[in-house]
Amino acid sequence: MAKRILCMGSINIDLTMFMKRMPDVGESVVTDNFATFPGGKGGNQAAVAATLGGEVRYFTKLGDDVFSAELTAGLKARGVDMSRVITLPGDTAGVAMIRVDEQGRNSISFTAGANAKLTPEDVRAHQDAFDGCDILLITMEIQPATVYEAIRVAREKGMTVIIDPSPVPAGGIPADICRMIDYAKPNETEAETLTGVPVRDMESAAVAYEKLAAMGIRTPILSLSDKGAFTVLEGKPIALAPLKVSAIDSTAAGDVFLGAFAASLSRGMAPEACLRFANTAAALSTTRKGAQSSIPSLAEVEAAL
Ligand code: RIB
Repeated sequence: MAKRILCMGSINIDLTMFMKRMPDVGESVVTDNFATFPGGKGGNQAAVAATLGGEVRYFTKLGDDVFSAELTAGLKARGVDMSRVITLPGDTAGVAMIRVDEQGRNSISFTAGANAKLTPEDVRAHQDAFDGCDILLITMEIQPATVYEAIRVAREKGMTVIIDPSPVPAGGIPADICRMIDYAKPNETEAETLTGVPVRDMESAAVAYEKLAAMGIRTPILSLSDKGAFTVLEGKPIALAPLKVSAIDSTAAGDVFLGAFAASLSRGMAPEACLRFANTAAALSTTRKGAQSSIPSLAEVEAAL
């Protein structure tokens, strides 16, 4: 039987502008290419996991604005159980402002809205939302203290903990929390912030991996944008080469990677096969615009594999 996934983290509406190049500080760059997409690292990962065969429940706070309603409906349509989401009257969903340049690279700023109002006390008070779930898939665009409490509850309930440490909180992740994490997937920047090692290639990724493992994280997985990903499974270093695709928008590629990893793990695939599945799904997502709009189908991932 498939394991069930509890997702936590931000659900945002993405206001995205596609432009030739990013503006410098103090500079304006004009574009007529604008679109809105359902996003948020947590929302994206839940949408991916549900689309790629996972059974997914969500726990966060949203508002009663049009964005919250639209985002909730979109996740429900993908099969995500949204019954445990708390609605705050007068509040809003998160909003992300995203710029994507001609090479598909992005820069993101965001405000978490009601997502940020989920407290550690809420997590304890609603810990029955974790019941019946086997995997916690969590991202950090909410209060770090809330993330840590969720990880504690998940461990108490014997769940597997998968985290996207994005963004890395000031001061890093506490040592006792690191030891409760089964899988953490930092990108190059996040890995550098957590370890102090500038991650540029597979060699430096291996050095950062060792530091993350020494912090107590059971399996760090480093995603390296267009250079692939690096981890170690059962003592064997695994350097995943990137798939050759024509990338137009890398927004949410990391979310697609981790959502696909969690979905395949929940379906009983071996970790190494999960990584290849995730790497393929992430690459395919960069060939389409937007966050949740870029998620490939299960058939597409399997065909590409
Ligand atoms: O990882 C991409 C996501 O980061 C976007 O969808 C945006 O909402 C931000 O949370």
